[in-house]
Amino acid sequence: MSGRIGQSPVRVDGRAKVTGAAHYASDMAVPNPAWAWLVTSAIARGRIAAIDEAAARAVPGVLDILTHRSMRGEVGDAGFFAGGGYAGSTIRPLQDDRVRHDGEIVAIVLAEGLEQAREAAYRLRIDYAEETPAAGFGSEGAELVSAREASGGSFEDPGVGDADAAFAGAAIRVAADYATPTQHHNPIELFTTTAQWEDGRLTVFEGSQYVHGLKNGLAAQLGLDPAMVRVESPYIGGAFGSRGSLTQRTALIAVAARRLNRPVKLVATRDQGFTIASYRAETRQHVKLGADTDGRLVALVHEGTEVTSRPDPYKVAGTQTTSRIYACPNIRTRVSLLHADRNTPGFMRSPPELPYMFALESAMDELAHAAGLDPIELRRRNDTMREPIKGLPWTSRSLMPCFDRGAAAFGWAERNPAPRSMREGDWLVGWGCATTIYPTHLGAATARVTLTPDGRARVQTAAHEIGTGTYTVVAQAAAEGLGLPLGKVLVEMGDSDLPPAPVSGGSNVTASVCTVVMQACEQIRARLAAAATEGPLQGRDPATLRLLDGALRAPDGAAEPLAAAMARAANGAIEVYAENIPEGLPPDSLKKLYQGKQALGGGLEGKQHVMAAFGAEFVEVRVHSRTAELRVPRILGAFAAGRIVNPRTARSQLMGGLIWGIGSALHEATEIDRRTARYVNDNIAEYLIPVNADVPQVEVLFVEEEERTANPLGIKGLGELGNVGTNAAIANAVFHATGKRVRELPIRIESVL
Ligand code: MOS
Repeated sequence: MSGRIGQSPVRVDGRAKVTGAAHYASDMAVPNPAWAWLVTSAIARGRIAAIDEAAARAVPGVLDILTHRSMRGEVGDAGFFAGGGYAGSTIRPLQDDRVRHDGEIVAIVLAEGLEQAREAAYRLRIDYAEETPAAGFGSEGAELVSAREASGGSFEDPGVGDADAAFAGAAIRVAADYATPTQHHNPIELFTTTAQWEDGRLTVFEGSQYVHGLKNGLAAQLGLDPAMVRVESPYIGGAFGSRGSLTQRTALIAVAARRLNRPVKLVATRDQGFTIASYRAETRQHVKLGADTDGRLVALVHEGTEVTSRPDPYKVAGTQTTSRIYACPNIRTRVSLLHADRNTPGFMRSPPELPYMFALESAMDELAHAAGLDPIELRRRNDTMREPIKGLPWTSRSLMPCFDRGAAAFGWAERNPAPRSMREGDWLVGWGCATTIYPTHLGAATARVTLTPDGRARVQTAAHEIGTGTYTVVAQAAAEGLGLPLGKVLVEMGDSDLPPAPVSGGSNVTASVCTVVMQACEQIRARLAAAATEGPLQGRDPATLRLLDGALRAPDGAAEPLAAAMARAANGAIEVYAENIPEGLPPDSLKKLYQGKQALGGGLEGKQHVMAAFGAEFVEVRVHSRTAELRVPRILGAFAAGRIVNPRTARSQLMGGLIWGIGSALHEATEIDRRTARYVNDNIAEYLIPVNADVPQVEVLFVEEEERTANPLGIKGLGELGNVGTNAAIANAVFHATGKRVRELPIRIESVL
């Protein structure tokens, strides 16, 4: 199987996954486990007034019931991840009698068997002293603060010029309000934790996008030396950000295992997953665009408010992106947070870009309509090779090539621009498009690569397989670097005992980890080349020798088989460890990596340049003229993301993003009862997602792009690129079909009636 960088080998772990040989965290066998069942709060705000454990303890097999009465003081504060700590939420259950959101963990039942734990949990009686909660927007008692204030001044709203004055004087103006709902990741794999203590050493098996973060955060919470904690997460059944930061359940299960002196397994239910982990925050946004008569932007205002929990200032602040994407001399942005009685939101695929680009790209479509311009032409007129806030250049930017390529493939030239002008029988047909963008993030990374004389390599790095194909692309990097077939490379990841790699978030891993693996391979090549002073390569410049097809080779064709070259250089295997801090990241990045602190750089935060992957998304919608039934018969994206390491897995990521985009635009919303601040559709029967019948045709095109600056391999990362533009592309197509502008997601029948 050919498997060099740029080729499309099938997933190296595909067979293990489809045969069940791939072990996910909760598949890990531990001896004689006890089972944990969570009891979560039935109110969103108040106090636990009384707990009656008698009926629960009478269930056969019950081992213990943990509540705040027995657990107070057991779990320390690991700090909020965005403030230099570890936790995705600083709300620590079972540490006092307060209830701070719907579904907060209020008790854990431990039993010999899962069914016994569940039965006892149902019999546990908890009485609450309820207080009126604030659910979010429009709720009395919710507290609005600016993101700047909430960050202690470290966050600055990007802006330039005088946007309000420029808007007032603009020839063409649009101003509108947009709203995006609460959404939950709902990964197929439930939130599970298995904890096991051996000789004072804690091992946790848990699906995690950041095993080093979880390890260090747990150590901080439990007062342990991090060396005494190991986290294993070899495969993950979906994450999308929900497993990126430490959640509070893990330390509780670890304490339970220590108390029982036996391993404890937890599998939280689907509905508990809505409140014990994170989610995408609900937003309200206001956008004003002013343009001259040619459609050139003269003013851009973007204000957003995001719901968060009472204690944690979680924000996505997508204005960092929307203020930089188009040329515009006058920009004002402002992000605010609304603290309510909710669990803390967090990363969810393309966290900042998805909600904020929905608003901006909808507004751009409104502007195109107001200016009488084709929406692609409007974007062309505002295209720029420098971002407008600081005037920094994009390292590469292929937005318009993506629009051109996508438009040609979609047949955009056939579009009649007038709304309600295209029809097929009873169906109104609409074509819409939107820009997609995802910043190129990079992180410090380390890896160990071992080459043995039989021509096999082992790569060890604590990156994670979140379903994206990381085992495969990392193996491709080593196969390329060492000149080996893909099948001769073994990759080990997802274990905090391995050399640390960054959080599997922000679409940084392929770039960050392949870069450091290639550096390790280069060290091996250099060592072999330096030793080739005799034999067939005698006299060749070591710098020119390459590892290719199982041999060390000179440009003139002279070659020495790998085993022979290795025998000259070493007595047995060659093992190297490499570490890399990408250019532009602070020098303490490696230290932070070892401490498990999330520290990505690059993207739009650079001092010399900014970098991002771009794309153009095209959608056809059909809206039934009498029933308003909405369909998306086809969707197409053209993307440019630098070097594509594996077009097969990259295409899968982008397809998944487009499909998720359809779900986000038309289906997904977590409904909350505004009076009780409780989720009402916390299951995947009522939390709607698209099925195959909702997604007839998805097409992904790659636009070739050479990226020279981001990293030596020219990789931009694209996992989160696909779903960013889809919401707006669909809303814009709905406007084209019906003449009705829908500014609130999801777009449902009642939105267009
Ligand atoms: Mo992604 S939301 O950065 O896991």
